[in-house]
Amino acid sequence: KSKVTVKELAEIMDKNVSEIITKLIGLGIMATINQELDYDTAQIIASEFGVEVEPLEDVTMDDVIDDIEIEPDRPEDLKPRSPVVTVMGHVDHGKTSLLDAIRKTKVTSREAGGITQHIGASEVKVNDKKIVLLDTPGHEAFTSMRARGAKVTDIAILVVAADDGVMPQTIEAINHAKAAEVPIIIAINKMDKPSANPDRVKQELADHGILIEEWGGDVISVPVSALNGENIDTLLEMILLVAEMEEFKANPNRKAIGTVIEAQLDVGKGSVATILIQNGTLKIGDSVVIGTTHGRIRAMMNDKGKRVNVAGPSTAVEITGLSEVPEAGDQLFAVEDDKIARAIVEKRINKIKAEQLKASQKISLDALFSQM
Ligand code: GTP
Ligand code: MG
Repeated sequence: KSKVTVKELAEIMDKNVSEIITKLIGLGIMATINQELDYDTAQIIASEFGVEVEPLEDVTMDDVIDDIEIEPDRPEDLKPRSPVVTVMGHVDHGKTSLLDAIRKTKVTSREAGGITQHIGASEVKVNDKKIVLLDTPGHEAFTSMRARGAKVTDIAILVVAADDGVMPQTIEAINHAKAAEVPIIIAINKMDKPSANPDRVKQELADHGILIEEWGGDVISVPVSALNGENIDTLLEMILLVAEMEEFKANPNRKAIGTVIEAQLDVGKGSVATILIQNGTLKIGDSVVIGTTHGRIRAMMNDKGKRVNVAGPSTAVEITGLSEVPEAGDQLFAVEDDKIARAIVEKRINKIKAEQLKASQKISLDALFSQM
């Protein structure tokens, strides 16, 4: 629901309809009792009455994930793991093409069927080392996952078209990567174009606090062409280089911890979710908690569409066996058994309800908007 009527707003704020209408007139809006208002207008009216507006979104999963004991790993249990890479950048600068180019050089050459991609993540091997590439966290998904505290990416590839330069979403991507504290590698794309001007890109990046190595900074940049494959191998090598410096590690011998990359309801399979395993190993039959969803892993499928029985750190798998469809950005925890999983979910749901009640005692416009 994206609208609320004057009457509904008056009711939730415990005001007279006429008072609301008067305020609306003050804002230059001629309203009737059944007039529909959008969220922003409703919020302005609420604040005009001095009513505190507490959005429901304030109750995040973070508030309720205090119910799982996450034991820290002992340093001796940590093993190197593959880097997880997200491609970001402005619209049309070539993010998808770049991922395709990477897969083409690394996948199609081996697989007759062409680009195999079954889930929103893919793995490529470079010099016998694995790199996990996330497709989904296109810009918005990444933003919302970040806002929810989910950290899925180790390295951000920032694609900047050499003929277009730094654009608004490039700057947003820079800010996201900085906020997430992940290293950035710049891919200056579309180098095949006659109008390509990499120096301009470098200058504009410098203007936004990204100083590349050539210019005395510490950010690696690689001029590439997703179209003709120029320097794609170099880019991949740079990813491995950065990964080596960062020394990503995880403990494969513990219960799995991961994050939902995407999830949906499948007619045949029920709730399916693509999970990036970040620590531990997920196995068929494991009981899991994901947000307010639980389940037992019935089947797992890797990025090549093959069934697998185990998935270790830095692996993306599609899982089935969940009670409901979880949300992107939700964290997965494997737990001892179903009983524990169910108990945790019940506790979480109750806690969210209690928090919502608390919020609604002030006034929650969001609740009003989402209920109806
Ligand atoms: P959105 O997902 O819409 O944000 O775009 P994107 O960043 O994924 O860009 P996409 O890969 O869809 O490419 C946009 C356009 O640029 C397409 O027409 C591509 O063919 C073209 N393109 C991508 N890479 C290159 C390149 O290296 N050289 C040239 N000449 N064109 C490219
Ligand atoms: Mg795209």
